[in-house]
Amino acid sequence: MTHKVLLLPGDGIGPEIAAQAARLLKACQDAGLDIEVEEALVGGAAYDAHGDPLPAETLDKAKAASAILLGAVGGPKWDKIEDLAKRPEKGLLGLRKNLGLFGNLRPAMLYPQLASASSLKPELVAGLDIMIVRELTGGIYFGHPRGIEERNGERVGFNTYVYSESEIERIGRVAFEMAQKRGKKLCSVDKANVLEVTILWREVMERLAPEYPDVELSHMYVDNAAMQLVRAPKQFDVVVTGNMFGDILSDAAAMLTGSIGMLPSASLNESGQGMYEPCHGSAPDIAGQNMANPLAMMLSVAMMLRYSLGENAMAERIEAAVGSVLDDGLRTADIASEGMQTIGTDAMGDAVLAAFAKQ
Ligand code: IPM
Ligand code: MG
Repeated sequence: MTHKVLLLPGDGIGPEIAAQAARLLKACQDAGLDIEVEEALVGGAAYDAHGDPLPAETLDKAKAASAILLGAVGGPKWDKIEDLAKRPEKGLLGLRKNLGLFGNLRPAMLYPQLASASSLKPELVAGLDIMIVRELTGGIYFGHPRGIEERNGERVGFNTYVYSESEIERIGRVAFEMAQKRGKKLCSVDKANVLEVTILWREVMERLAPEYPDVELSHMYVDNAAMQLVRAPKQFDVVVTGNMFGDILSDAAAMLTGSIGMLPSASLNESGQGMYEPCHGSAPDIAGQNMANPLAMMLSVAMMLRYSLGENAMAERIEAAVGSVLDDGLRTADIASEGMQTIGTDAMGDAVLAAFAKQ
């Protein structure tokens, strides 16, 4: 069966790194992978062309695809759009919600070659391998009521932090199963000392635990989790948490590895369809300068092959190619260190493709 892959370059450095992903997909096709690749607009690029960050055509193509590869969305150019529903970020949130991509997998692993790129001492991060499982279609991001309105002569802003038992159970199962495949430790992060919604969260996680007797479940308040992540990050294996805490903790975890420019992520729905994107954003400050690190995007291709297309061997081949490029001392500016050769986006793409061909 031919897999349909939809490439959404987006904004900022998105198009540059997506171009490297497109080259890699072509190389995979040449190596026998049966895929068909289409492109569409999303985010600010779609707003500029159609006045809508998620045009119907893009959403239709996304629904029809087996997997979606997204660069990044957003940038200062669109920060002044007053209608939040037209902001580039809505393109991303709309894709997540419309496709039901509730399960967000954000690995934070340290490439041994990059240990010195971390701002933490090498011994604290050597061998780091954390998987953050973030709920992505609920919580305070999507809860109602929400808005800004006039009350008693002043404006009041409000959002609703809400999770149903079924939403918690669904993400809980993803996390327990992930822990079973990894180090068998699951830490659920909440704020159950203050927020009712996370008291329920904790209860549901406890209720699931006996079904996964091989997994050791623990709980941590989110403030402590933030502290532990920078104090002793290797204590974590799999972390499961809600949408907003996951947003924040996954950035912190990503940075432990030295470069957020190295980390891919997956967002999956109940039928295994997935959207894959680098953890970093659109980095408008370096856009168009051939400086961006394309590796997170190229590793997102590998993650897509593994989780949505069942092509493990090809995924491993890409990951091995990235490893060998790092072994050769090639670095983009974000992961540069002394004695290494700093190269641009295109040259990094060339190097990965050359290594891929040799695998
Ligand atoms: C992320 C991003 C998004 C989020 C933004 C762009 C809406 O920060 O994917 O982590 O908050 O989910
Ligand atoms: Mg974020």
